[in-house]
Amino acid sequence: MFSCFWLIFLVQSSVAKVIQLKWEVEYKHWSPDCIESVVMAINGTFPGPTIEATAGDTVNITLTNHLHTEGVVIHWHGITQKGTPWADGTASISQCAINAGETFVYSFTVEKAGTFFYHGHYGMQRSAGLYGSLIVHEAEPHRQPFKYDGEFNLLLSDWWHQNVHRQEVDLSGVPLVFIGEPQSLLINGKGQYNCSIAAHFDESKNVCNFTEKEQCKPEILQVKPNKKYRIRLASTTALASLNFMIQGHKLEVVEADGNYVKPFLVDDLDIYSGESYSVLLNTNQGPPSGNYWISIGIRGRKPGKPPTPPALAILNYYPMTPVSKHPSSAPPVHPVWDNYTHSKLFSNSIKALTGPKSYLNYKPPPLKQDRRIVLLNTQNYINNYTKWTINNISLTLPSTPYLGAIKYGIDNAFTQQSPPDHYNSPNYNINYPPPRDTNAIHSNAVYKLPSNKVIDVVLQNANMLTEGHSEIHPWHLHGHDFWVLGYGEGKFSDANETLFNTVDPPLRNTVVVYPYGWTALRFEADNPGVWAFHCHIEPHLHMGMGVIFAEAVEEIKKMKVNKEALVCGLTGKMFMNSHRD
Ligand code: C2O
Ligand code: CU
Repeated sequence: MFSCFWLIFLVQSSVAKVIQLKWEVEYKHWSPDCIESVVMAINGTFPGPTIEATAGDTVNITLTNHLHTEGVVIHWHGITQKGTPWADGTASISQCAINAGETFVYSFTVEKAGTFFYHGHYGMQRSAGLYGSLIVHEAEPHRQPFKYDGEFNLLLSDWWHQNVHRQEVDLSGVPLVFIGEPQSLLINGKGQYNCSIAAHFDESKNVCNFTEKEQCKPEILQVKPNKKYRIRLASTTALASLNFMIQGHKLEVVEADGNYVKPFLVDDLDIYSGESYSVLLNTNQGPPSGNYWISIGIRGRKPGKPPTPPALAILNYYPMTPVSKHPSSAPPVHPVWDNYTHSKLFSNSIKALTGPKSYLNYKPPPLKQDRRIVLLNTQNYINNYTKWTINNISLTLPSTPYLGAIKYGIDNAFTQQSPPDHYNSPNYNINYPPPRDTNAIHSNAVYKLPSNKVIDVVLQNANMLTEGHSEIHPWHLHGHDFWVLGYGEGKFSDANETLFNTVDPPLRNTVVVYPYGWTALRFEADNPGVWAFHCHIEPHLHMGMGVIFAEAVEEIKKMKVNKEALVCGLTGKMFMNSHRD
């Protein structure tokens, strides 16, 4: 009897399931920060529904576009899409945008446990609120290198009152009109615009109507004393870099972008757009007789006028009542926005969890690269338009998705010339703005990465068009995790290799490059497909800040792809011609 029970248990726990979801995307009135706006909702909710899966599962999403006049796609951020590059959900890269009224079926396997999310990847649809959480649990619980009694999931974002179409027009105009700082920050899609709760934490003076509207009332995390909770954090912000903290509580960082890290304790942590973390919260810290603030605030950008207030949630110790009892002190104060030393300390503390446990299938990086691509980011004028450029190229996307063009050998769908592996002015001074007249261009060129080569990418930051300004850019790679080899100051040179961590560099899918600095990463080109690598700040991507990797092109040609993904542009013409009678 006993052994039979275990047998059943083992069989059940390793059987992967197919998760079938039916989604409808539409615009909807919503009040994310208590001010009525329009959001892109999925099945009538904002943020979209949370997908919960188990490692090994297949997820099928039948997506119908009810936006009336615009296309849509959804990208599954952090999912590597091995064997299904057509399901990556990137317009003009992996697929044609799904037309208004049309339905498209995404189907992919979630190989690895972790905290992920999904979002629109066409125009600035992520800024419009098209996002949600994707959580993948371990197939066998004992594989988790830590234990906890309960878990919470917090999806972090930022919010503007100006609609994204206006934002797009402003960003692509002459002169450029920047979108400015967000009006609100959101936790699970909820924030409070212009709420002076921070100044009026005393309830009698609370001018926030904190609990009035269901759509914007703050999240309450109810915990019991002396337990351990896992808090999942993911940031899908359009612009803001965030700092997360819980009043009076230290947090233990255990996961980053779906990869286990060597646990370490922090008072607060930075999270950039495109990143995710899990932290463990021990509820044995301080008196459980009160409620505590959970707060996110902005990092790395000078506060606007008025400054974007932090978004708040409440940590509530059972059986205290959360609503009648707001925390009795002011919310915690985040590190100063430009304290980069603090941020770098955190970045450098993240190491992969290695060890004898066989289930930790962490593998350190190959010690040598086959190719090193150095990507210098600068701002430039191209025909008076302000653009972000990478090695002097501002990315524009073709009307025929790269994946289809490569699969069917349609060479005239995009430039066949390769973009440069290095910036072509080696004397470039990263500390000064570039001269006004440069030879920057628009291009849809791609980097072709031969199968199974080891690729290094060095992100090189520099001064922007205005003197004395350099910004944070969180770069996200589709189709891969990469090893973060290290961060450095100033201009990268090959001699900086000695600073690389090749012992236990963390695997991530997003990494930040600090102002005037560089960041080095490494990955193996073992996933045939066409993958975007770009700054996850939505306006920056819109202004051209990204590159495209076409990986294992010969294998793409042999691959099975979902033709539905490719019926537009020149591939569409090809299909039409082949069906003429
Ligand atoms: Cu989450 Cu291409 O991005
Ligand atoms: Cu950027």
